[in-house]
Amino acid sequence: MMELSSTDLEKGWDSDKLPCHIAIIMDGNGRWAQRRALPRTAGHAAGAETFRRIATYCKDIGIKYLTIYAFSTENWKRPPAEVKVIMELLEKYLHEALGKMEKDRVKMKFFGDVTVLSPKLQELIAQTEELSAKFEGVQINICVNYGGRDEIVRAAENYVSDVKNGRIADEKLTEESFSRYMYSAGMPDPDLVIRPSGELRLSNFLIWQTAYSELYYTDVLWPDFSEQELDKAIVSYQNRNRRFGGI
Ligand code: IPE
Ligand code: IPE
Ligand code: MG
Repeated sequence: MMELSSTDLEKGWDSDKLPCHIAIIMDGNGRWAQRRALPRTAGHAAGAETFRRIATYCKDIGIKYLTIYAFSTENWKRPPAEVKVIMELLEKYLHEALGKMEKDRVKMKFFGDVTVLSPKLQELIAQTEELSAKFEGVQINICVNYGGRDEIVRAAENYVSDVKNGRIADEKLTEESFSRYMYSAGMPDPDLVIRPSGELRLSNFLIWQTAYSELYYTDVLWPDFSEQELDKAIVSYQNRNRRFGGI
């Protein structure tokens, strides 16, 4: 066995067994704000900061894929003013990301139907994906107007349309070939899914891809989620016995 470095010992995890793909449901922004008698939108602003910090940390410790749930297909039920602030925060983040792209060298992808977002946001998303496509090694997927069921229905529609148009042979569909119709095509499934804020559910997040993911729940609210909390989640993950149906 390889020796653990002192830093690893400090963090408590083994750098040889890091999850390749971590997915996070950024939840608890509203409650965080409520507890401080602040508007919910202040919680979203604080949550965006946490995202910056955690994304940087994941990159620094060598996580290859980070998938973040930012806005679900169900989140449109929220008051328009709250939705507007979330979209503005995303816009702000993308401006920044574009500005320091050459320095960060992170490939960025978006999961979800972005065609209903503002033209400005769509343009920023397209630019971010295009300009970061050349980077290898670290990838961040941001789920916006994303729903797991919506993703599966779209995949089925696109598959049928490919068969109808003769783009692919009408052969038996397999789990592997169907996966190529998901937003996550070509990427490994999440090894670890983290949900802060105490809710014990997936809320329509990556329901196809998480079939065998390890789930980690914590009561910490997303704006309070720290690098140490991520360390704890990784330690918990490393103590699991992943059997994938075997023995
Ligand atoms: C997560 O925080 C952010 C989004 C869903 C966009 P919430 O806004 O859901 O926070 P709570 O769950 O109300 O505390
Ligand atoms: C899940 O959080 C969606 C995101 C974090 C983007 P929600 O706050 O929308 O989930 P529910 O409503 O508690 O299930
Ligand atoms: Mg919530």
